Amino acid sequence: MQAINPRPLYENEGTEQAAFQRAVIEQLKSDPRRPKSFYLSTMGCQMNARDSEKLKGILLSIGAREVPEDQEDLVIYNTCCIRENAEQKVYGRLGYLKSVKRKNPGMKIVLCGCMMQEDTVIEKIKKSYPEVDLIFGTYNLYRFPELLQTVLETKDQIIDIWDKQQEIVEDLPSVRKYSFKASVNIMYGCDNFCTYCIVPYVRGRERSREPENIVAEIKSLAESGVKEIQLLGQNVNSYGKGLENPISFAKLLEMVHQIDGIERIRFMTSHPKDLSDELIEAMGKLPKVCPHFHLPLQSGSDRLLKAMNRHYDQEKYLNIVRKLKETVPGISLTTDIIVGFPTETREDFLETLKVVREVRFDGAFTFIYSPRIGTPAARMQQVPEEESKKNFAELLKVLEEIGEENNRQWLGRTVLVLAEEQSKNDSTMLSGRTPHNQLVHFVGGPRLIGQMVEVTITETTPFYLIGKQKNLLD
Ligand code: 5AD
Ligand code: SF4
Repeated sequence: MQAINPRPLYENEGTEQAAFQRAVIEQLKSDPRRPKSFYLSTMGCQMNARDSEKLKGILLSIGAREVPEDQEDLVIYNTCCIRENAEQKVYGRLGYLKSVKRKNPGMKIVLCGCMMQEDTVIEKIKKSYPEVDLIFGTYNLYRFPELLQTVLETKDQIIDIWDKQQEIVEDLPSVRKYSFKASVNIMYGCDNFCTYCIVPYVRGRERSREPENIVAEIKSLAESGVKEIQLLGQNVNSYGKGLENPISFAKLLEMVHQIDGIERIRFMTSHPKDLSDELIEAMGKLPKVCPHFHLPLQSGSDRLLKAMNRHYDQEKYLNIVRKLKETVPGISLTTDIIVGFPTETREDFLETLKVVREVRFDGAFTFIYSPRIGTPAARMQQVPEEESKKNFAELLKVLEEIGEENNRQWLGRTVLVLAEEQSKNDSTMLSGRTPHNQLVHFVGGPRLIGQMVEVTITETTPFYLIGKQKNLLD
């Protein structure tokens, strides 16, 4: 067992680190021991998806090719810990990998991501899964080339977990999933400490990237053909607060809006407590910013919102929704909702349903509360699972009814769809998203992928739309 301890930081560490890691990548390229193939599994949210693009960029740069099954040279799991079942999946997979590695002892197993920032997880892996070769966390992902090199040189289990964020390291290789749309981190971490949430413990304090770096990245993406940008942060509304020259998220949107070639701008996630009128006004006047807002509600009950440490109540939430709907007519609203938070009563849940019915969300990520060790809510009075499950099913039903009614209004209308990929079940169909972020399936060939296509909606379902290219309609 070997733990690598981080060196102390010094000025310009970010830039120097990137140069150093790039030099290691150069060495790895000609190292005969380097993995020739890799399998990468990504769990969890958009942050992890973006981190995986960086991991993949590094692996492709050293000359490894991606394979669809976790049986070859290198297997890497980028993990999530937001709910317990995400963690159970990883342990299940490790059990399976144990037998694969017996047959293929040269295989390297790598674990990274949020789950690795939990002490209890590291203890368990050390004790029960010695076949894991490398573990690193969320703060030192940029050191992956260096850590990989160490793995090739030793048989020990390498564990490199930092308990604090370091300077943001820019300019590492990364591969984008799509050539026409891209996610861009604008900030990392979260300071909100919602009482159910483990993110602030595993992703650290909020820190923003410099706007110049963000703009430079997006300009270069636009030059390479990217049309749609998604700005990513756990709480984009507090973007820019800690910078030497503080700047608001609305100002950043204006800067991104000026970049030629970018046609659509999206962002995730907004916390209702920090949502400024300046941002709502910016949404109204910047046409490239898509008419869609993801605004996590979590609960409609004022008592629970307080217990969750959310710093808003139902009235404040509904006021924001009103302003958004006034400023951007027809705006699509989506949300996150937790059912079964400690002490939740039927009355609390009915408050949530009330808000759902009033706002008429176009979509929602819904979760049954999962206690996370170390968070305050895990120590509160838990509620019976049966009750949560019943309420959860009721919530899904209401959301589905609303989704169906909302979507039906699109029947016969023509929408601009950015065609993203061929449909998994039917290769004659393409799927893509409207400015309102609705998923649309329509008949079309692969040459349309990456293009804006006018599609007339011919059928609707609660969760997606079906249409035909406008100029092909008979
Ligand atoms: N249990 C259930 N859902 C959770 N979320 C965060 N923590 C938990 C938890 N412990 C949900 C919240 C958040 C989304 C990303 O995940 O709704 O907005
Ligand atoms: Fe978690 Fe709350 Fe931060 Fe979102 S805002 S990441 S729910 S602590």
